[in-house]
Amino acid sequence: MEIHNRKELDELIKELDINGPVPDKEPFRQYYFIKKNREYVAKKKEELGRPLTCSVNTFGCQMNVRDSEKLLGILEQMGYEKTDSEDADFVIYNTCTVRENANRKVYGHLGILKHKKKSRPDMIIGLCGCMMQEQEVVETIRTKYKFVDIVFGTHNVYKLAEIYYNRIASGSSVIDIWKDTEMVVEDLPATREYSFKSGVNIMFGCNNFCTYCIVPYVRGRERSRTPEDIIDEVKALAADGVVEVMLLGQNVNSYGKNLPEKVSFAKLLEMVCQVEGIERVRFMTPHPKDLSDELIDVIARNPKVCRHVHLPLQSGSTKILKAMNRHYTKEDYLALVDKIKTRIPDVSITADIIVGFPGETEEDFLDTLDVVEKVRYDTAFTFIYSKRTGTPAAAMENGATKEEINDRYNRLFKRVQEISGEITQTFKGKTLPVLVEGISEQNDGLLTGRLSNNLLVHFEGCESLIGHIVDVTLVECKGFYFIGRLIEDEV
Ligand code: SAH
Ligand code: SF4
Ligand code: F3S
Repeated sequence: MEIHNRKELDELIKELDINGPVPDKEPFRQYYFIKKNREYVAKKKEELGRPLTCSVNTFGCQMNVRDSEKLLGILEQMGYEKTDSEDADFVIYNTCTVRENANRKVYGHLGILKHKKKSRPDMIIGLCGCMMQEQEVVETIRTKYKFVDIVFGTHNVYKLAEIYYNRIASGSSVIDIWKDTEMVVEDLPATREYSFKSGVNIMFGCNNFCTYCIVPYVRGRERSRTPEDIIDEVKALAADGVVEVMLLGQNVNSYGKNLPEKVSFAKLLEMVCQVEGIERVRFMTPHPKDLSDELIDVIARNPKVCRHVHLPLQSGSTKILKAMNRHYTKEDYLALVDKIKTRIPDVSITADIIVGFPGETEEDFLDTLDVVEKVRYDTAFTFIYSKRTGTPAAAMENGATKEEINDRYNRLFKRVQEISGEITQTFKGKTLPVLVEGISEQNDGLLTGRLSNNLLVHFEGCESLIGHIVDVTLVECKGFYFIGRLIEDEV
Protein backbone atom coordinates (compact mmCIF):
# COMPACT_ATOMS: atom_id res chain seq x y z
CA MET A 1 0.00 0.00 0.00
CA GLU A 2 0.97 3.62 -0.39
CA ILE A 3 3.07 4.99 2.46
CA HIS A 4 2.16 8.58 3.38
CA ASN A 5 4.42 11.19 4.86
CA ARG A 6 3.53 13.04 8.01
CA LYS A 7 1.75 15.93 6.35
CA GLU A 8 -0.32 13.66 4.13
CA LEU A 9 -1.28 11.50 7.11
CA ASP A 10 -2.24 14.59 9.02
CA GLU A 11 -4.60 15.62 6.22
CA LEU A 12 -6.00 12.10 5.90
CA ILE A 13 -6.86 12.01 9.59
CA LYS A 14 -8.29 15.54 9.54
CA GLU A 15 -10.75 14.59 6.82
CA LEU A 16 -11.85 11.36 8.49
CA ASP A 17 -15.45 11.07 9.66
CA ILE A 18 -15.54 9.97 13.29
CA ASN A 19 -19.25 10.20 13.80
CA GLY A 20 -19.91 6.92 12.01
CA PRO A 21 -19.03 3.39 13.19
CA VAL A 22 -15.46 2.43 14.15
CA PRO A 23 -13.69 1.12 11.02
CA ASP A 24 -12.67 -2.57 11.13
CA LYS A 25 -9.74 -2.25 8.78
CA GLU A 26 -6.27 -1.11 9.74
CA PRO A 27 -4.72 1.39 9.64
CA PHE A 28 -8.04 3.30 9.30
CA ARG A 29 -9.25 2.04 12.65
CA GLN A 30 -6.21 3.66 14.28
CA TYR A 31 -6.66 6.90 12.31
CA TYR A 32 -10.19 6.97 13.76
CA PHE A 33 -8.91 6.65 17.33
CA ILE A 34 -6.13 9.16 16.73
CA LYS A 35 -8.77 11.67 15.72
CA LYS A 36 -10.99 10.82 18.71
CA ASN A 37 -7.99 11.31 20.99
CA ARG A 38 -7.15 14.61 19.32
CA GLU A 39 -10.42 15.97 20.65
CA TYR A 40 -9.63 14.79 24.16
CA VAL A 41 -6.06 16.10 24.11
CA ALA A 42 -7.23 19.48 22.78
CA LYS A 43 -9.82 19.72 25.57
CA LYS A 44 -7.20 18.89 28.22
CA LYS A 45 -4.83 21.41 26.73
CA GLU A 46 -7.45 24.10 27.07
CA GLU A 47 -8.24 23.11 30.64
CA LEU A 48 -4.60 23.24 31.66
CA GLY A 49 -3.69 26.22 29.53
CA ARG A 50 -0.57 24.47 28.26
CA PRO A 51 0.37 21.73 25.80
CA LEU A 52 0.29 18.07 26.87
CA THR A 53 3.73 16.47 26.85
CA CYS A 54 4.88 12.90 26.26
CA SER A 55 8.12 11.06 26.83
CA VAL A 56 8.94 7.71 25.19
CA ASN A 57 11.83 5.91 26.88
CA THR A 58 13.49 3.10 25.02
CA PHE A 59 15.47 0.11 26.27
CA GLY A 60 16.96 -2.60 24.10
CA CYS A 61 17.79 -2.97 20.44
CA GLN A 62 17.17 -1.12 17.17
CA MET A 63 13.79 -2.87 16.85
CA ASN A 64 12.62 -1.12 19.99
CA VAL A 65 14.15 2.17 18.87
CA ARG A 66 12.08 1.94 15.70
CA ASP A 67 8.92 0.93 17.59
CA SER A 68 9.41 3.95 19.84
CA GLU A 69 9.54 6.22 16.79
CA LYS A 70 6.16 4.79 15.81
CA LEU A 71 4.77 5.36 19.31
CA LEU A 72 5.97 8.94 19.28
CA GLY A 73 4.53 9.42 15.78
CA ILE A 74 1.10 8.30 17.01
CA LEU A 75 1.30 10.47 20.15
CA GLU A 76 2.27 13.54 18.16
CA GLN A 77 -0.63 12.91 15.79
CA MET A 78 -2.88 12.81 18.86
CA GLY A 79 -1.62 16.26 19.85
CA TYR A 80 1.08 15.49 22.40
CA GLU A 81 4.39 17.36 22.35
CA LYS A 82 7.63 15.46 22.84
CA THR A 83 9.76 16.13 25.89
CA ASP A 84 12.81 14.32 27.26
CA SER A 85 11.72 14.87 30.85
CA GLU A 86 9.94 12.17 32.82
CA ASP A 87 7.70 14.89 34.24
CA ALA A 88 5.61 14.48 31.10
CA ASP A 89 1.85 14.03 31.05
CA PHE A 90 2.29 10.66 29.32
CA VAL A 91 5.36 8.55 30.02
CA ILE A 92 5.95 5.29 28.15
CA TYR A 93 8.64 2.71 28.76
CA ASN A 94 9.39 0.52 25.79
CA THR A 95 11.09 -2.38 27.52
CA CYS A 96 13.69 -5.07 26.73
CA THR A 97 14.07 -8.43 28.43
CA VAL A 98 17.02 -9.98 26.62
CA ARG A 99 19.07 -10.05 29.85
CA GLU A 100 18.03 -9.86 33.49
CA ASN A 101 19.57 -6.42 34.05
CA ALA A 102 17.38 -4.94 31.30
CA ASN A 103 14.36 -6.00 33.40
CA ARG A 104 15.74 -4.62 36.63
CA LYS A 105 16.21 -1.15 35.14
CA VAL A 106 12.50 -0.91 34.32
CA TYR A 107 11.36 -1.76 37.84
CA GLY A 108 13.82 0.85 39.14
CA HIS A 109 12.28 3.54 36.93
CA LEU A 110 8.75 2.51 37.89
CA GLY A 111 9.56 3.28 41.52
CA ILE A 112 10.40 6.86 40.56
CA LEU A 113 7.27 7.22 38.42
CA LYS A 114 5.02 6.00 41.24
CA HIS A 115 6.29 8.87 43.33
CA LYS A 116 5.73 11.41 40.55
CA LYS A 117 2.20 10.20 39.92
CA LYS A 118 1.26 10.76 43.56
CA SER A 119 1.63 14.49 43.08
CA ARG A 120 0.23 14.45 39.52
CA PRO A 121 -2.68 12.00 39.36
CA ASP A 122 -3.52 12.98 35.76
CA MET A 123 -0.22 11.57 34.54
CA ILE A 124 -0.54 8.52 32.28
CA ILE A 125 2.04 5.74 32.54
CA GLY A 126 2.40 3.18 29.77
CA LEU A 127 4.52 0.03 29.55
CA CYS A 128 5.14 -1.86 26.36
CA GLY A 129 7.80 -3.87 24.56
CA CYS A 130 9.40 -7.27 25.02
CA MET A 131 9.18 -7.52 28.81
CA MET A 132 5.40 -7.20 28.62
CA GLN A 133 5.23 -10.40 26.56
CA GLU A 134 6.19 -12.33 29.70
CA GLN A 135 3.24 -13.50 31.75
CA GLU A 136 4.92 -13.16 35.16
CA VAL A 137 5.89 -9.57 34.38
CA VAL A 138 2.33 -8.59 33.49
CA GLU A 139 1.09 -10.35 36.63
CA THR A 140 3.56 -8.35 38.73
CA ILE A 141 2.47 -5.09 37.09
CA ARG A 142 -1.20 -5.95 37.56
CA THR A 143 -0.82 -6.72 41.26
CA LYS A 144 2.08 -4.59 42.50
CA TYR A 145 2.20 -1.62 40.15
CA LYS A 146 -1.47 -0.70 39.94
CA PHE A 147 -0.66 2.90 39.09
CA VAL A 148 0.39 1.83 35.56
CA ASP A 149 -2.38 2.91 33.15
CA ILE A 150 -1.59 1.09 29.95
CA VAL A 151 0.21 -2.18 29.24
CA PHE A 152 0.66 -3.58 25.75
CA GLY A 153 3.16 -5.79 23.97
CA THR A 154 5.32 -6.08 20.87
CA HIS A 155 2.55 -7.29 18.53
CA ASN A 156 0.14 -4.39 18.98
CA VAL A 157 2.40 -1.33 19.09
CA TYR A 158 0.35 0.07 16.23
CA LYS A 159 -2.75 0.04 18.48
CA LEU A 160 -1.56 2.72 20.90
CA ALA A 161 -4.28 5.20 19.91
CA GLU A 162 -7.05 2.65 20.47
CA ILE A 163 -5.62 1.47 23.79
CA TYR A 164 -5.25 5.06 24.96
CA TYR A 165 -8.84 5.77 23.96
CA ASN A 166 -10.04 2.78 25.98
CA ARG A 167 -8.06 3.95 29.00
CA ILE A 168 -9.59 7.42 28.88
CA ALA A 169 -13.11 6.19 28.14
CA SER A 170 -13.10 3.52 30.86
CA GLY A 171 -11.14 5.44 33.49
CA SER A 172 -9.29 2.27 34.46
CA SER A 173 -6.07 0.52 33.46
CA VAL A 174 -5.96 -1.28 30.11
CA ILE A 175 -3.82 -4.40 29.66
CA ASP A 176 -3.73 -5.65 26.08
CA ILE A 177 -1.17 -8.35 25.32
CA TRP A 178 -1.24 -10.64 22.29
CA LYS A 179 0.55 -13.97 22.21
CA ASP A 180 1.54 -13.69 18.56
CA THR A 181 0.30 -12.16 15.33
CA GLU A 182 0.45 -12.69 11.62
CA MET A 183 -0.37 -9.08 10.95
CA VAL A 184 1.92 -6.35 9.70
CA VAL A 185 0.13 -2.99 9.87
CA GLU A 186 1.48 -0.47 7.37
CA ASP A 187 1.24 3.27 7.04
CA LEU A 188 1.12 4.55 10.57
CA PRO A 189 2.87 7.72 11.64
CA ALA A 190 6.47 7.62 12.93
CA THR A 191 8.61 10.44 14.27
CA ARG A 192 12.28 9.82 13.55
CA GLU A 193 14.97 10.51 16.09
CA TYR A 194 17.23 11.73 13.27
CA SER A 195 16.01 13.66 10.26
CA PHE A 196 18.61 12.09 7.95
CA LYS A 197 18.72 8.44 8.96
CA SER A 198 16.14 5.83 9.84
CA GLY A 199 15.65 2.21 10.76
CA VAL A 200 13.34 0.28 8.46
CA ASN A 201 11.74 -2.97 9.65
CA ILE A 202 11.98 -5.56 6.93
CA MET A 203 10.71 -8.40 9.09
CA PHE A 204 9.45 -9.06 12.58
CA GLY A 205 9.97 -11.98 14.95
CA CYS A 206 12.48 -14.82 14.98
CA ASN A 207 12.28 -18.56 14.31
CA ASN A 208 15.80 -19.52 15.32
CA PHE A 209 15.33 -20.36 18.98
CA CYS A 210 18.94 -20.04 20.07
CA THR A 211 18.66 -21.84 23.39
CA TYR A 212 19.70 -18.87 25.56
CA CYS A 213 17.49 -16.32 23.85
CA ILE A 214 14.06 -15.03 24.82
CA VAL A 215 13.48 -12.98 21.66
CA PRO A 216 11.51 -15.66 19.73
CA TYR A 217 9.11 -15.94 22.69
CA VAL A 218 8.51 -12.23 23.01
CA ARG A 219 8.63 -11.20 19.35
CA GLY A 220 6.76 -14.15 17.86
CA ARG A 221 7.27 -15.97 14.57
CA GLU A 222 9.02 -14.53 11.54
CA ARG A 223 6.94 -12.26 9.31
CA SER A 224 8.37 -10.32 6.39
CA ARG A 225 7.02 -7.12 4.96
CA THR A 226 6.56 -7.16 1.21
CA PRO A 227 9.40 -5.65 -0.85
CA GLU A 228 6.88 -3.17 -2.30
CA ASP A 229 5.96 -1.83 1.15
CA ILE A 230 9.62 -1.63 2.16
CA ILE A 231 10.68 0.17 -1.01
CA ASP A 232 7.71 2.55 -0.73
CA GLU A 233 8.74 3.38 2.82
CA VAL A 234 12.37 3.91 1.81
CA LYS A 235 11.27 6.17 -1.07
CA ALA A 236 9.07 8.19 1.30
CA LEU A 237 12.00 8.47 3.71
CA ALA A 238 14.34 9.61 0.93
CA ALA A 239 11.78 12.22 -0.15
CA ASP A 240 11.75 13.41 3.46
CA GLY A 241 15.53 13.94 3.56
CA VAL A 242 16.78 10.56 4.79
CA VAL A 243 20.15 9.52 3.31
CA GLU A 244 20.89 6.43 5.41
CA VAL A 245 18.60 3.51 6.17
CA MET A 246 19.22 0.53 8.40
CA LEU A 247 17.25 -2.57 7.44
CA LEU A 248 16.14 -4.32 10.60
CA GLY A 249 15.40 -7.97 11.36
CA GLN A 250 16.47 -10.55 13.96
CA ASN A 251 17.96 -12.59 11.14
CA VAL A 252 17.82 -10.63 7.92
CA ASN A 253 19.01 -13.71 6.00
CA SER A 254 15.58 -15.28 6.51
CA TYR A 255 13.90 -12.28 4.89
CA GLY A 256 11.15 -13.14 2.41
CA LYS A 257 10.80 -16.81 3.28
CA ASN A 258 7.13 -16.51 4.25
CA LEU A 259 6.13 -14.23 1.39
CA PRO A 260 3.90 -15.61 -1.38
CA GLU A 261 6.65 -14.71 -3.82
CA LYS A 262 9.97 -15.47 -2.18
CA VAL A 263 12.53 -12.67 -2.32
CA SER A 264 16.03 -13.09 -0.91
CA PHE A 265 17.53 -10.52 1.45
CA ALA A 266 20.33 -9.94 -1.08
CA LYS A 267 17.74 -8.98 -3.74
CA LEU A 268 15.95 -6.68 -1.33
CA LEU A 269 19.22 -5.02 -0.36
CA GLU A 270 20.00 -4.38 -4.00
CA MET A 271 16.53 -2.90 -4.54
CA VAL A 272 16.95 -0.57 -1.57
CA CYS A 273 20.31 0.61 -2.96
CA GLN A 274 18.54 1.66 -6.14
CA VAL A 275 16.30 4.15 -4.35
CA GLU A 276 17.35 7.61 -5.41
CA GLY A 277 18.51 9.85 -2.58
CA ILE A 278 19.56 6.97 -0.34
CA GLU A 279 23.35 7.15 0.01
CA ARG A 280 24.02 4.55 2.66
CA VAL A 281 22.38 1.26 3.54
CA ARG A 282 23.09 -0.71 6.70
CA PHE A 283 21.48 -3.89 7.96
CA MET A 284 21.17 -5.73 11.25
CA THR A 285 21.52 -8.69 11.93
CA PRO A 286 22.68 -11.47 9.61
CA HIS A 287 23.03 -14.92 11.21
CA PRO A 288 26.30 -16.70 10.34
CA LYS A 289 24.46 -19.97 9.63
CA ASP A 290 22.85 -18.77 6.42
CA LEU A 291 24.72 -15.72 5.14
CA SER A 292 24.72 -16.34 1.39
CA ASP A 293 27.39 -15.79 -1.27
CA GLU A 294 24.75 -13.80 -3.12
CA LEU A 295 24.59 -11.37 -0.17
CA ILE A 296 28.38 -11.01 -0.04
CA ASP A 297 28.34 -10.27 -3.79
CA VAL A 298 25.64 -7.63 -3.43
CA ILE A 299 27.57 -5.90 -0.65
CA ALA A 300 30.83 -6.10 -2.59
CA ARG A 301 29.42 -4.51 -5.74
CA ASN A 302 27.17 -1.87 -4.15
CA PRO A 303 29.18 1.00 -2.72
CA LYS A 304 26.03 2.28 -0.98
CA VAL A 305 26.05 -0.75 1.34
CA CYS A 306 28.13 0.22 4.36
CA ARG A 307 31.40 -1.59 4.87
CA HIS A 308 30.25 -3.16 8.10
CA VAL A 309 29.00 -6.66 8.81
CA HIS A 310 27.79 -7.40 12.32
CA LEU A 311 28.24 -11.14 12.59
CA PRO A 312 27.28 -12.42 16.05
CA LEU A 313 29.66 -15.16 17.18
CA GLN A 314 28.15 -15.96 20.61
CA SER A 315 30.82 -18.60 21.28
CA GLY A 316 33.95 -19.89 19.57
CA SER A 317 33.48 -23.43 20.83
CA THR A 318 31.74 -25.82 18.46
CA LYS A 319 30.42 -27.79 21.43
CA ILE A 320 28.84 -24.68 22.99
CA LEU A 321 27.55 -23.45 19.62
CA LYS A 322 25.74 -26.76 19.27
CA ALA A 323 24.23 -26.41 22.73
CA MET A 324 23.20 -22.88 21.77
CA ASN A 325 21.46 -24.22 18.63
CA ARG A 326 23.44 -21.88 16.41
CA HIS A 327 23.89 -24.27 13.46
CA TYR A 328 27.55 -23.47 12.70
CA THR A 329 30.93 -24.63 13.95
CA LYS A 330 33.98 -22.61 14.91
CA GLU A 331 35.50 -23.54 11.54
CA ASP A 332 32.37 -22.57 9.58
CA TYR A 333 32.41 -19.17 11.24
CA LEU A 334 36.10 -18.55 10.57
CA ALA A 335 35.72 -19.64 6.94
CA LEU A 336 32.77 -17.25 6.53
CA VAL A 337 34.74 -14.34 7.96
CA ASP A 338 37.63 -15.17 5.60
CA LYS A 339 35.29 -15.19 2.63
CA ILE A 340 33.73 -11.86 3.60
CA LYS A 341 37.11 -10.23 4.18
CA THR A 342 38.50 -11.49 0.89
CA ARG A 343 35.53 -10.27 -1.15
CA ILE A 344 35.05 -7.00 0.75
CA PRO A 345 38.58 -5.98 1.79
CA ASP A 346 37.67 -2.74 3.59
CA VAL A 347 34.89 -4.34 5.64
CA SER A 348 34.61 -3.94 9.38
CA ILE A 349 33.50 -7.06 11.23
CA THR A 350 31.84 -6.81 14.63
CA ALA A 351 30.13 -9.38 16.84
CA ASP A 352 28.17 -10.22 19.96
CA ILE A 353 29.82 -12.72 22.27
CA ILE A 354 28.38 -14.49 25.31
CA VAL A 355 30.55 -15.77 28.17
CA GLY A 356 29.42 -18.32 30.74
CA PHE A 357 26.80 -20.24 28.77
CA PRO A 358 25.86 -23.42 30.71
CA GLY A 359 28.57 -26.06 30.33
CA GLU A 360 31.24 -23.65 29.07
CA THR A 361 34.67 -24.87 30.27
CA GLU A 362 37.97 -23.01 30.23
CA GLU A 363 38.80 -24.90 27.05
CA ASP A 364 35.57 -23.72 25.38
CA PHE A 365 36.34 -20.19 26.46
CA LEU A 366 39.82 -20.43 24.96
CA ASP A 367 38.15 -21.31 21.64
CA THR A 368 36.18 -18.06 21.90
CA LEU A 369 39.39 -16.14 22.58
CA ASP A 370 41.02 -17.93 19.66
CA VAL A 371 38.27 -16.75 17.28
CA VAL A 372 38.71 -13.21 18.63
CA GLU A 373 42.46 -13.42 17.87
CA LYS A 374 41.88 -14.81 14.39
CA VAL A 375 39.04 -12.51 13.29
CA ARG A 376 40.35 -9.37 14.97
CA TYR A 377 36.98 -7.66 15.39
CA ASP A 378 36.72 -3.92 14.85
CA THR A 379 34.59 -4.04 17.99
CA ALA A 380 32.55 -6.66 19.79
CA PHE A 381 29.77 -6.50 22.35
CA THR A 382 30.49 -8.90 25.17
CA PHE A 383 27.82 -10.25 27.52
CA ILE A 384 27.72 -12.49 30.54
CA TYR A 385 25.15 -15.22 29.98
CA SER A 386 21.87 -14.35 31.64
CA LYS A 387 19.39 -17.10 32.42
CA ARG A 388 15.98 -16.40 30.85
CA THR A 389 13.03 -18.33 32.24
CA GLY A 390 11.31 -20.42 29.61
CA THR A 391 14.31 -20.84 27.32
CA PRO A 392 15.88 -24.31 26.93
CA ALA A 393 19.22 -23.13 28.36
CA ALA A 394 17.51 -22.15 31.63
CA ALA A 395 17.22 -25.86 32.40
CA MET A 396 20.89 -26.58 31.65
CA GLU A 397 23.44 -27.13 34.38
CA ASN A 398 26.06 -24.39 34.71
CA GLY A 399 29.33 -25.88 35.98
CA ALA A 400 31.42 -22.70 36.14
CA THR A 401 31.44 -20.46 39.21
CA LYS A 402 30.54 -16.77 39.17
CA GLU A 403 34.21 -15.91 39.75
CA GLU A 404 35.36 -18.07 36.85
CA ILE A 405 32.80 -16.49 34.55
CA ASN A 406 33.71 -12.95 35.64
CA ASP A 407 37.37 -13.75 35.11
CA ARG A 408 36.67 -15.05 31.58
CA TYR A 409 34.57 -12.00 30.85
CA ASN A 410 37.36 -9.65 31.94
CA ARG A 411 39.96 -11.48 29.88
CA LEU A 412 37.73 -11.42 26.81
CA PHE A 413 36.79 -7.78 27.26
CA LYS A 414 40.44 -6.76 27.63
CA ARG A 415 41.52 -8.58 24.43
CA VAL A 416 38.55 -7.25 22.46
CA GLN A 417 39.39 -3.70 23.54
CA GLU A 418 43.09 -4.06 22.77
CA ILE A 419 42.47 -5.40 19.28
CA SER A 420 39.80 -2.80 18.62
CA GLY A 421 42.26 -0.04 19.59
CA GLU A 422 44.94 -1.50 17.30
CA ILE A 423 42.55 -1.69 14.34
CA THR A 424 41.26 1.85 14.90
CA GLN A 425 44.85 3.11 14.86
CA THR A 426 45.39 1.74 11.31
CA PHE A 427 42.95 4.33 9.91
CA LYS A 428 45.17 7.24 10.94
CA GLY A 429 45.90 9.63 8.07
CA LYS A 430 43.13 8.33 5.79
CA THR A 431 40.57 10.66 4.24
CA LEU A 432 37.13 9.08 4.08
CA PRO A 433 33.46 10.03 3.62
CA VAL A 434 31.63 10.73 6.88
CA LEU A 435 27.91 11.12 7.46
CA VAL A 436 27.64 14.03 9.89
CA GLU A 437 25.24 13.00 12.66
CA GLY A 438 25.22 15.93 15.07
CA ILE A 439 27.10 17.93 17.64
CA SER A 440 29.61 15.89 19.63
CA GLU A 441 28.32 14.93 23.07
CA GLN A 442 31.69 15.46 24.73
CA ASN A 443 32.59 18.75 23.08
CA ASP A 444 29.90 20.97 21.64
CA GLY A 445 32.49 22.78 19.53
CA LEU A 446 32.83 19.64 17.40
CA LEU A 447 30.63 17.76 14.98
CA THR A 448 30.39 14.00 15.12
CA GLY A 449 29.93 11.58 12.27
CA ARG A 450 30.38 8.01 11.13
CA LEU A 451 32.43 6.33 8.46
CA SER A 452 30.84 3.71 6.27
CA ASN A 453 32.47 1.09 8.52
CA ASN A 454 30.74 2.65 11.56
CA LEU A 455 33.89 4.26 13.06
CA LEU A 456 33.18 7.55 14.85
CA VAL A 457 35.00 10.78 14.12
CA HIS A 458 34.75 14.21 15.75
CA PHE A 459 35.82 17.30 13.83
CA GLU A 460 35.35 21.03 13.55
CA GLY A 461 32.67 22.18 11.16
CA CYS A 462 29.48 24.09 10.67
CA GLU A 463 26.20 22.71 12.06
CA SER A 464 24.63 23.02 8.62
CA LEU A 465 26.64 19.94 7.63
CA ILE A 466 24.49 17.69 9.83
CA GLY A 467 22.84 15.08 7.65
CA HIS A 468 25.39 15.49 4.84
CA ILE A 469 28.24 13.24 3.76
CA VAL A 470 31.60 15.04 3.77
CA ASP A 471 35.25 13.98 3.44
CA VAL A 472 37.25 14.03 6.66
CA THR A 473 40.92 13.25 7.29
CA LEU A 474 41.43 11.08 10.37
CA VAL A 475 44.12 12.97 12.23
CA GLU A 476 44.33 11.75 15.81
CA CYS A 477 43.29 8.35 17.13
CA LYS A 478 41.62 8.56 20.55
CA GLY A 479 41.31 4.85 21.23
CA PHE A 480 38.01 3.94 19.62
CA TYR A 481 37.30 7.11 17.71
CA PHE A 482 39.14 9.81 15.79
CA ILE A 483 39.62 13.52 15.84
CA GLY A 484 39.47 14.54 12.20
CA ARG A 485 39.85 17.49 9.86
CA LEU A 486 37.15 18.44 7.39
CA ILE A 487 38.22 18.73 3.75
CA GLU A 488 36.69 22.15 3.21
CA ASP A 489 36.54 22.35 -0.58
CA GLU A 490 34.26 19.32 -0.60
CA VAL A 491 31.40 21.33 0.86
N1 SAH B 1 18.98 -11.43 16.53
C1 SAH B 1 20.23 -10.92 16.84
C2 SAH B 1 20.35 -10.26 18.20
C3 SAH B 1 19.54 -10.70 19.34
S1 SAH B 1 19.79 -10.10 20.93
C4 SAH B 1 21.21 -12.04 16.67
O1 SAH B 1 20.87 -13.17 16.52
O2 SAH B 1 22.36 -11.73 16.67
C5 SAH B 1 21.37 -9.35 20.92
C6 SAH B 1 22.43 -10.12 21.60
O3 SAH B 1 22.14 -10.31 22.97
C7 SAH B 1 22.69 -11.50 21.07
O4 SAH B 1 23.47 -11.50 19.93
C8 SAH B 1 23.38 -12.17 22.24
O5 SAH B 1 24.77 -12.02 22.17
C9 SAH B 1 22.86 -11.42 23.43
N2 SAH B 1 21.98 -12.27 24.25
C10 SAH B 1 20.80 -12.80 23.89
N3 SAH B 1 20.31 -13.55 24.89
C11 SAH B 1 21.19 -13.49 25.91
C12 SAH B 1 21.26 -14.07 27.21
N4 SAH B 1 20.31 -14.86 27.66
N5 SAH B 1 22.34 -13.78 27.98
C13 SAH B 1 23.32 -12.97 27.53
N6 SAH B 1 23.31 -12.42 26.32
C14 SAH B 1 22.27 -12.67 25.50
FE1 SF4 C 1 17.80 -14.64 19.61
FE2 SF4 C 1 19.04 -16.32 18.05
FE3 SF4 C 1 16.81 -15.14 17.20
FE4 SF4 C 1 19.04 -13.74 17.47
S1 SF4 C 1 18.72 -15.42 16.04
S2 SF4 C 1 17.02 -13.16 18.16
S3 SF4 C 1 20.01 -14.66 19.23
S4 SF4 C 1 16.99 -16.61 18.87
FE1 F3S D 1 15.49 -6.56 23.85
FE2 F3S D 1 13.32 -7.14 22.57
FE3 F3S D 1 15.37 -6.19 21.25
S1 F3S D 1 14.20 -8.32 24.21
S2 F3S D 1 17.12 -6.89 22.43
S3 F3S D 1 14.25 -5.13 22.78
S4 F3S D 1 13.91 -7.67 20.51
